[in-house]
Amino acid sequence: MPVSDNQLVEMFEHVLTLSNVTPSESVAILKSHYSNPRIVDAAFNAAQRLGAKVYGVELPALNPPKAMGNDMTAYCGDTPLTGNKAAQTALEAADLIVDTMMLLHSPEQEQILKTGTRILLAVEPPEVLARILPTLEDKRRVVAAEKVLKTAKKMRVTSAAGSDFTMSLGDYPTVTEYGFADEPGRWDHWPSGFLFSWPNEESANGKLVIDIGDILLPFKTYCRESITLTIKDGFITDITGGFEAEYLRDYMAYFKDPEVYGISHVGWGLQPRAQWTAMGLHDKNDGMCMDARAFNGNFLFSTGPNTEVGGTRKTPCHMDIPLRNCTITLDDEVVVVNAGEVVFPNTLSE
Ligand SMILES: [Fe+2]
Repeated sequence: MPVSDNQLVEMFEHVLTLSNVTPSESVAILKSHYSNPRIVDAAFNAAQRLGAKVYGVELPALNPPKAMGNDMTAYCGDTPLTGNKAAQTALEAADLIVDTMMLLHSPEQEQILKTGTRILLAVEPPEVLARILPTLEDKRRVVAAEKVLKTAKKMRVTSAAGSDFTMSLGDYPTVTEYGFADEPGRWDHWPSGFLFSWPNEESANGKLVIDIGDILLPFKTYCRESITLTIKDGFITDITGGFEAEYLRDYMAYFKDPEVYGISHVGWGLQPRAQWTAMGLHDKNDGMCMDARAFNGNFLFSTGPNTEVGGTRKTPCHMDIPLRNCTITLDDEVVVVNAGEVVFPNTLSE
């Protein structure tokens, strides 16, 4: 349902306060012509109300030749900031950037974060921002899970649908998203509430069955039939099933790049206010559907790049695939059980 401009400003004030914005800080609002002007205005107004020094950085849109569709997660790599040193410098000068255009997964973003600048991405519709307004409790829940994931050496994912997928962990960092950027150099995304890492190279093996009702992003579709992925030594080697499998096969083949079949981040959702059903109530161009990535107990599997954490796989194709009804085991500890229930660490009921 619609959110008033006043409520939107109040929400931004809340999230910027959680992000530790102070009157002595500079806040840059990064935008392009396709940014939601209401979100841009609310971010400006909220930062001003907190006494911060606010300025805007507007960049032209970028349309890579191979990109299809309007979902900004569908193409990784180059961004409107690529090669624009003046804009890069202006952004690095900020203490916090509110990104309303999406710099996700770019070397330029990594460079900005290294200077200590914090980045908060906010590109979802106001209704979604309101329903998944972050809280300190969200952070506590995600950070408790981070302690488990970052020391784990092995992840196994099984399901009644037939998945049995294992990988080694530990070579890549664990990344958390809890909805606010409260520490120097931190990137976060409002709304979110999940965590992930990347399998050690060549260690992911097994079978992953994407079942009826599981979600394919950026297609923004619920699977109506199952798709079986065969994974060997870190790469998908076979995609079988009916029409849904054929569609996925054709989409990934379109990029003509063997790297698209690599396994990217893996993790699980920890956000009770995110809903598996929400995607069905939105148009495809409403946003990037963070509900699907964050809903409680989903196993979030993905394909493609790992450059954002220092890996060498730079490829534009990135699929995020949240699966329901999986059991996720880290070493010998079950963290999510069959029904998608988060059981460890047990922070939801505390
Ligand atoms: Fe992803």
